[in-house]
Amino acid sequence: MKEDKKFHIQTMGCQMNERDSETLCGMLAELGYTRTENRQDSDVAIINTCSVRDNADKRFFGTLGQLKKIKEQRPDFIVCVCGCMMQQQYIIDTIKQKYPWVDIIFGTHNIHEFPKLLKSVISEKEKIVDVWKDAGEIVEGMPSKRLYKFKAFVNIMYGCNNFCTYCIVPYTRGRERSRCPEEILKEVRALAADGVKEITLLGQNVNSYSGSPENDPDGKKTDFADLIYMLQEIEGIEKIRFMTSHPKDLSDKLIQAYTDCGKLCANIHLPVQSGSDAVLKRMNRHYNREQYLALVNKLRDAVPGITMSTDIIVGFPGETEQDFEDTLSLVEEVGYDSAFTFLYSIRRGTPAAGYDDQIPEEVKHERFDRLVEAVNRHSAEKNAAMKGRVERILVEGPSRHDKTTLTGRTEGFKVVDFEGDESMIGTFRDVLIIEGKTFSLRGKLV
Ligand code: 5AD
Ligand code: SF4
Repeated sequence: MKEDKKFHIQTMGCQMNERDSETLCGMLAELGYTRTENRQDSDVAIINTCSVRDNADKRFFGTLGQLKKIKEQRPDFIVCVCGCMMQQQYIIDTIKQKYPWVDIIFGTHNIHEFPKLLKSVISEKEKIVDVWKDAGEIVEGMPSKRLYKFKAFVNIMYGCNNFCTYCIVPYTRGRERSRCPEEILKEVRALAADGVKEITLLGQNVNSYSGSPENDPDGKKTDFADLIYMLQEIEGIEKIRFMTSHPKDLSDKLIQAYTDCGKLCANIHLPVQSGSDAVLKRMNRHYNREQYLALVNKLRDAVPGITMSTDIIVGFPGETEQDFEDTLSLVEEVGYDSAFTFLYSIRRGTPAAGYDDQIPEEVKHERFDRLVEAVNRHSAEKNAAMKGRVERILVEGPSRHDKTTLTGRTEGFKVVDFEGDESMIGTFRDVLIIEGKTFSLRGKLV
């Protein structure tokens, strides 16, 4: 085998997938592979797929199509596909039928087996499909190659039990499993020792975190707020964030943690999905508009200046014009700092896929445009109001749009671009906000 083996990885979808890709990168590094950004040039190509984002299927199959050529030129080139899409049987069937150049198909529950699968494909030259229907025990201690040096994602739980009727996640990521608190603390201490200053705790629904003590599954449980208090004590970690929270499970104890734990950033992502009670009910969200708004007010009262973002779906089956207007009015009432807006799209195997009152595409798009206008107007207003404030920013690196400027985020998770020296990367700096735009801020070092 050649000496300098290279791999290419493409990650679609959410932070969970990003985190899984870090693990895959870590495992490949241990096998002696280095990462390349050029797929043409790689020995192993991985696509880590997503089932949630719009058009994910199309993009994925498009990319797979392009890989055929490389495989024809270099039969030793290994194509691996994994992630949420692989947990759906019809996807596996399609790959087998139409994309026979794929070598390894694995799922979300057996990432830890990847080195074994890869070695086996290399030695046996046989294709492997290994997708576990259910999650096994949580596997700890996997290697990882982090995306960033100074901030890190930390999984605290996997899976979801909520079964929102539009969502595929409970089927692709399985039931809720929480890591034990000792493992999380150990990981975060190691990250801190390695120079990480900001952590983002990840879970589909972090508010229902319930960790058992190591070696004692029936012992006293640690809940999400308890975990924050424990993490607050770790020296070196200066900022703690988390995502995502389900409004139905957000506890008063967590709200108290915002007050008590200085490291917990005053920001929350609180997906509302719809402002209509009828739609929320059919989505199986377990809260209504009034309860959601009460929660927003409670958070704002307890945590002054807390910034808020959300997810909203437009055109859920049966959504009437009035239902949609209820969503619009909720957006006006809350005034989010930012929002992710989604056109409802059918996910095979979910309850809502079978609802017979699907909304015509043009109606969805028309509503979507109105929603985006409202969302962006509020973002621009909130960002404009930041002008004149001084924010303590962890300098993350050069800005994505302009390599000559630096970028970081405010405590409230707003992107700030400012001029500065690369030597500042990884340090905290005070930045005066001089302009608020729709999607970001411009600042000046003070
Ligand atoms: N159609 C549109 N948006 C969806 N989301 C999840 N499933 C769907 C779907 N079928 C959105 C939700 C969720 C976000 C991650 O993706 O708003 O909060
Ligand atoms: Fe999907 Fe609902 Fe679970 Fe979020 S809470 S992952 S939207 S089922």
